[in-house]
Amino acid sequence: MITHYANVQLHTVSLEGVRQFYGELLQLPVVYRSDSEIRFLVADRSILSFVETFEPISPAHLAFAIPYSRFERVVEWAESRQLTFLKWEDGRAIDDYETGKNIYFRDGDGHLLEIITDREGDAGSASPFSADFPVLFIREVGFPVESVPEFRQKLVHLLGFELRGEPTDTFTFAVGGTAYAVVVSKKRRWIPIGMIALPPRVGVTLGFNRAADWSEITSRLYASGVPYEENGEGGGSFTLEGYRFHLVYEAEKQG
Ligand SMILES: [Fe+2]
Repeated sequence: MITHYANVQLHTVSLEGVRQFYGELLQLPVVYRSDSEIRFLVADRSILSFVETFEPISPAHLAFAIPYSRFERVVEWAESRQLTFLKWEDGRAIDDYETGKNIYFRDGDGHLLEIITDREGDAGSASPFSADFPVLFIREVGFPVESVPEFRQKLVHLLGFELRGEPTDTFTFAVGGTAYAVVVSKKRRWIPIGMIALPPRVGVTLGFNRAADWSEITSRLYASGVPYEENGEGGGSFTLEGYRFHLVYEAEKQG
């Protein structure tokens, strides 16, 4: 089954701006840098990478999950570092709802970022390595699409994702392990600032934990007429509605 977002790749018009924002302000460790790409270790087994582009950026939406007990401290820490949070129309920044809390901000390219926590969220097995910004995993990636029912059905049928909450024609959470795909209509705007949901150029790498998963997925891709490529390491890649998916086999860690 799909377990997590192993890598999320976004585009930027300034690698140095990305380094300053994610590396200096949010203090995520840089694990790779070239003339065209920079990668940060966000959490155990989770990389966030940025590739330089000469095209306009369509902002993506991502959410970082943190432990519930740390939420207020993280918000204070980020504010002390001059991070500006976005507000709802009534002026509040933190949304405190039934199952958790969240808060939104943007990076220099306009990517819409979210820090989210679940009331039950401290029970996760991931151990954050930053005391100040203790990210457990990349929880959400937004996928603006033409047809929400069609795209979510592909995620369910091809990848074994489950639908969460109340799926509607304009918004659905499709979930595999800790990876939430936020499937939204291009016509539905992103909260809390009414941001138009242009489809971003985002590439996601999903981890799976049973060696047989990829062959099962490829037979469903084949039957559905979706072309795919093998990566030679028991996984591979394919494209759905312009979104590039890479699947990598990551056996569960022992001990
Ligand atoms: Fe979100």
